[in-house]
Amino acid sequence: MTRLWGGRFEGAPAPEMLAFTRSAGFDGRLAREDCAVLAVHARGLAAAGLLDEDQARQVAITLEGIAADLGSGRLAAAPDDEDVHSVVERALLERLPDVAPRVRAGLSRNDRVATALRLWLLREGRDVVGLLADLIEVLAQRAAESREVVLPGYTHLQRAQPVRLAHHLLAHAFALERDARRLLDAVGRADASPLGAGALAGSTLGLDPTAAAAALGLCSSMENSLDAVAARDFVAEFLAAAAILGVHCSRLGEELVLWTSEEFGFAALSDAWATGSSLMPQKKNPDVAELARAKAGRLIGHLAGFLATLKGLPLAYNRDLQEDKEPLFDAVDTLRLMLPALAGALRTLEFRSEAMAAAAERGALLATDLAEYLVRKGVPFRDAHEIVGRAVQRALAQGRALSDLSLEDLRSFSEAFQPDVRSTLSARASADQRPAPGPSSASVEGQLARLGRAVAELRAVVS
Ligand code: ARG
Repeated sequence: MTRLWGGRFEGAPAPEMLAFTRSAGFDGRLAREDCAVLAVHARGLAAAGLLDEDQARQVAITLEGIAADLGSGRLAAAPDDEDVHSVVERALLERLPDVAPRVRAGLSRNDRVATALRLWLLREGRDVVGLLADLIEVLAQRAAESREVVLPGYTHLQRAQPVRLAHHLLAHAFALERDARRLLDAVGRADASPLGAGALAGSTLGLDPTAAAAALGLCSSMENSLDAVAARDFVAEFLAAAAILGVHCSRLGEELVLWTSEEFGFAALSDAWATGSSLMPQKKNPDVAELARAKAGRLIGHLAGFLATLKGLPLAYNRDLQEDKEPLFDAVDTLRLMLPALAGALRTLEFRSEAMAAAAERGALLATDLAEYLVRKGVPFRDAHEIVGRAVQRALAQGRALSDLSLEDLRSFSEAFQPDVRSTLSARASADQRPAPGPSSASVEGQLARLGRAVAELRAVVS
């Protein structure tokens, strides 16, 4: 066993203690970053005159090999390795026995793990944003293809007013675009180096934290050593952005579930993106959409759980902070699986335009258009609302759509109705009479252009 401590202890740690406290079972994902941190630290020791330049170079090369071996599985944590740092220490001692014992001077696992986790999130977080950009792009593509399709817009899940399908899809896309920027913001907050903070109070060895930050490719070095090792708000912030994204995916998933139901019949999943039933031969189920709906619970749980872990922790490092990793890793893993699945289901979704159009024309979705028609003819809105309400009542009583009422019928409610009212009585016209931020054709064009620019910006930031 290679422990990073032990001088003041007699005997070995209790196996149950080790089993309970070890993080080597999950923190191996930080191996690449941990090796990078240690290599930069060795360079810092050389700059301070505590290692030869040549030794620092040897350390860096050896650590590259260790990182590669840990990545490929040639090297792995042993059951009694406490954490990834112990694994790296063991390998470095084996491969470079003369220099390795000098390399940890001035470095603690506290600044080491905080730095490694930040580096990890910078890399992985940007990948997640790239996957989110793919999903946004699919929504924009499907919107661009369905410019002319009209469907009911809903409030309270009751048919309300006609909108373009593109307008509806873009509403989801804009929410996701804000999520992408929220994620990037959180990732940006991770871009600062705790290295040099040591365990909590810095070091006497003449290290240069600013140079270390630059060597790690991080924007800045943290100002306060206690904050450097204690801060995990960058984790909480990413989890918060992930949870909000999860909620948005859940709302999108719920609509896919509704739209692909026989009751709505607005869309059909392609076979590759649906599942069957082991008992009922006829079933075609929207499991991707349902799981997207469900994963929000898991992501919200990670945020709530981790905030509870942080709450009340005294400065500076506490072992509680080890609990930052699993929620963060799982949030990233969850998004890495969910975003491409949702994108695939949406890319191949078949829209049932006729069913959407029929639902938009049927019933009384044009009631507001009629009321606003009357307002344009000089009728006070309060009266117009009443008049059209009575017309709706009659149409419903006769089992007709509002648009089936004749001019004569309408004029029996108000003389203000003129022959030109016919031109307002179609779902398409209704959508087209509502400029930005409404569902008109010009508004949708503007939205598509704006979203296209936003996706290009996102791609530029994460590439
Ligand atoms: N596995 C620990 C963590 O993830 C590493 C830091 C341990 N530091 C300590 N003083 N025991 O937080």
